[in-house]
Amino acid sequence: MKNIRNFCIIAHIDHGKSTLADRLLEFTSTVAKRDMQAQLLDNMDLERERGITIKSHAIQMQYPYKGEIYTLNLIDTPGHVDFSYEVSRSIAACEGALLIVDASQGIEAQTISNLYLAIGADLEIIPVLNKIDLPHAMPEEVTDEIVDLIGCDAGDILHASGKTGIGIEAILNAICERIPAPKGDPEAPLQALIFDSVFNSYRGIEVLFRIKNGTMRKGDKVKFMATGKEYGADEIGILGLNQEPRTEMSAGNVGYLISGIKEAREVKVGDTITHVSRPTPEAIQGFADVKPMVFAGIYPVETTEYEELRSSMEKLQLNDASLVWEPETSVALGFGFRCGFLGMLHMEIVQERLEREFNMTVITTVPSVQFHAIGTKDQMLTINAPSEMPEPNLIKLIEEPFIKAQIITASEYVGPIITLCMDKRGIIKGQSYLTSERVEMTFELPLSEIVFDFFDKLKTISRGYASLDYELIGFREADMVKLDVMLNGEKVDALSAIVHRSKSYEWGKRLCEKLRELLPRQMFDIAIQASIGQKIIARETVKALRKNVIAKCYGGDISRKRKLLEKQKEGKKRMRSVGSVEIPQEAFLAVLKID
Ligand code: GTP
Repeated sequence: MKNIRNFCIIAHIDHGKSTLADRLLEFTSTVAKRDMQAQLLDNMDLERERGITIKSHAIQMQYPYKGEIYTLNLIDTPGHVDFSYEVSRSIAACEGALLIVDASQGIEAQTISNLYLAIGADLEIIPVLNKIDLPHAMPEEVTDEIVDLIGCDAGDILHASGKTGIGIEAILNAICERIPAPKGDPEAPLQALIFDSVFNSYRGIEVLFRIKNGTMRKGDKVKFMATGKEYGADEIGILGLNQEPRTEMSAGNVGYLISGIKEAREVKVGDTITHVSRPTPEAIQGFADVKPMVFAGIYPVETTEYEELRSSMEKLQLNDASLVWEPETSVALGFGFRCGFLGMLHMEIVQERLEREFNMTVITTVPSVQFHAIGTKDQMLTINAPSEMPEPNLIKLIEEPFIKAQIITASEYVGPIITLCMDKRGIIKGQSYLTSERVEMTFELPLSEIVFDFFDKLKTISRGYASLDYELIGFREADMVKLDVMLNGEKVDALSAIVHRSKSYEWGKRLCEKLRELLPRQMFDIAIQASIGQKIIARETVKALRKNVIAKCYGGDISRKRKLLEKQKEGKKRMRSVGSVEIPQEAFLAVLKID
């Protein structure tokens, strides 16, 4: 155990974690040169296409140092704020962290938030100044920023380039030297923390764990403490480039367990594995509950696929512990699920994973934050969907979630950013200079104003030179109203939204205009109306198509006609009929495009 080192790599998005991980794998010959491909650990298609890490990935390396072989368990983590729950879980499996900072960018918002997560878990931090090969790298300035931030010596900061391979050996040596070996007693009763899991339709659910105490042997009878279920440890092993079976693993190690579990709900990330015959009296402290930031309904496009969608969501949840959901019914859409996401990127990724990994076609409805309604008898109601909002005469007041936002930017953008935040009903709380050029600002803002398109706006006004991180700080009274949408006189509950009264008229008007653009023309006029209570506040019409598109082909080539029909069918993906009106996915997300 004295030669085991468990560490993760944390950084702001795009500062080069995955590339640096590639170099470590290469240098330790964990991956042969010919098998090497860029961002090797980002093995999900979606990650490769988007160039971002969504999941944490664990891999074991062997490294000879001062005449001994060290076992290094590396966990690569995502950088985007929506996936910070992944980071916090990975941290729980480690004793140290490489904190990567891009030498051309300096410290950014998630550098700070991820660092605090790591410090909170008592990890040894090794700061790494990365991308020093870049001609516009500013090693001195960024070194000063890092020294200020973590209070280390400039000499503690390693210089590296994941691109050229500079500094890789020094990083590996520092991992062996500075990160403490795991503590724990291999003879004690078994205590292993489940930090992730993957659904595998052939082998059953794969559980990833970190052993805190004790020893697990192949064939042992084990128990998951939260569920009380018992299994045989059919296969255990370490996570190399592929899974490598072992007969025995003990305290300090990271690995996988397969025991033929088929039911997704039997595995809970954060649970403790112990022995049936000699159980530990104490479960390891699990993970803090996830706090979803955005809620939206997910509905199958084909109503008959509801059960299949449920089982797909259960399987996806295994691999995405930050996804929460419960059944929901919509008058317009029928049976579906109300889901909580950590942000809009997370929501998009969930929808895409359901489609790619489970072959489902789904519609996500208008996203919303959670509100509190305080009733006339002071009872509190949580509102995760506009349809749950009580009539105004039944409540005293509404509260909306507030966040503390941290924005780091260049000093020239301070003015425009303050204007943007004020426009979003924000309050500035603080401002401090990291260097003469770079400023850190703190705001308090309503979550509903920033969760949808704030970051895009921030990037536009700062030409990309701003980073954002935020956390919930509580609920505050707000004058919110429910805005309903009717199509041809029929209320479509899945299009309702809760908005601030001061913005509601403008909002209703723009929403109707947007829907007019997005709803496909049909054989009849479609009246779009927005209302607050009984009062109609905006109206638009989608004009009927003049001619039947098929009529055009009349007498024409039959295959052309079929092609046209097929094309129409294709276009029907992610589309739901409500009454006689067809609503495409984009229409449900129209609210995101309203300023
Ligand atoms: P996320 O996982 O999405 O947070 O990103 P990441 O931190 O893993 O960054 P990634 O390794 O994907 O690198 C981001 C970009 O920076 C890629 O285009 C890399 O090619 C580039 N890059 C990474 N390291 C270096 C480096 O040392 N030098 C230079 N010049 N470019 C680098």
